[in-house]
Amino acid sequence: MTSHPTTAPAMAHGVSHSSDSLPAHIAVIMDGNGRWAKARGLPRIEGHRRGLEALRGLVRAADQRGIRFLTVYSFSSENWRRPAEEVSELLGLLRYFIRQDVADLSARNVRIRIIGRRNDLPDDIAVLLREAETTTASNTGLTLIIAFNYGARDELLRATQALASQVAEGRLAVADMSEQHICDALDTSGLPDPDLLIRTSGEVRLSNFMMWQLAYTELVFLPVAWPDFDAAALDGALVEFSHRQRRFGGLTEPSAEQARGQV
Ligand code: IPE
Ligand code: IPE
Ligand code: MG
Repeated sequence: MTSHPTTAPAMAHGVSHSSDSLPAHIAVIMDGNGRWAKARGLPRIEGHRRGLEALRGLVRAADQRGIRFLTVYSFSSENWRRPAEEVSELLGLLRYFIRQDVADLSARNVRIRIIGRRNDLPDDIAVLLREAETTTASNTGLTLIIAFNYGARDELLRATQALASQVAEGRLAVADMSEQHICDALDTSGLPDPDLLIRTSGEVRLSNFMMWQLAYTELVFLPVAWPDFDAAALDGALVEFSHRQRRFGGLTEPSAEQARGQV
């Protein structure tokens, strides 16, 4: 395994060029819990519980390998379409995770960010999410970004509304709008774009995940169900990533200086 970058990745236009073969930011679509459970004759919630164990393992493994940013898709804006019982169990699992794990994560210097729509969540969940962010805000280790009640289209809609308000109030001229304004209006404001996306379960689609931020991300789709994802699977994806040549529209990989946004 190669050493991790010692400088923060460049964030101009929300693009992170990791100057190393190790991704600075990994995004994960944790899919396949239900099928994992069904294959074992278990209720779907058991798959979600085992999925939480896999998430705990991923956070540890990513941290040990020097990953700086880890975004995990835990509940989409479309997952409300599932039966009420499953939705309620998933909300319960989020409550359990925040109550159970945040203190330990904070002790390990993990900073938590939540992305997704907040204003139609149950009040107690909104409070838990805010507390998870505020209690870990000054941590300097791995940033764990939890996408909850998140959909890329919903995020872009809210960003568009925010920018339209700035224009309507005379605070922003249409001609001055840049990609950076959009980056700053997204939930991921201030975060570098993912370098590597991993989706488990064999599905090969984005399911409304980070559609702006993934523009130049390397995509890895694995057949493994999420509860079976482990450190070895992460290492396999990292090896795959290290073999990819990223060009960002140019003809060669960016130089280290370009990667740091210095030229
Ligand atoms: C991912 O597993 C977890 C969530 C979407 C909340 P699924 O629940 O989608 O599992 P499958 O895809 O039905 O197997
Ligand atoms: C994506 O998985 C959402 C999460 C993993 C949280 P889904 O299971 O909801 O995606 P589709 O419905 O198969 O596209
Ligand atoms: Mg699924």
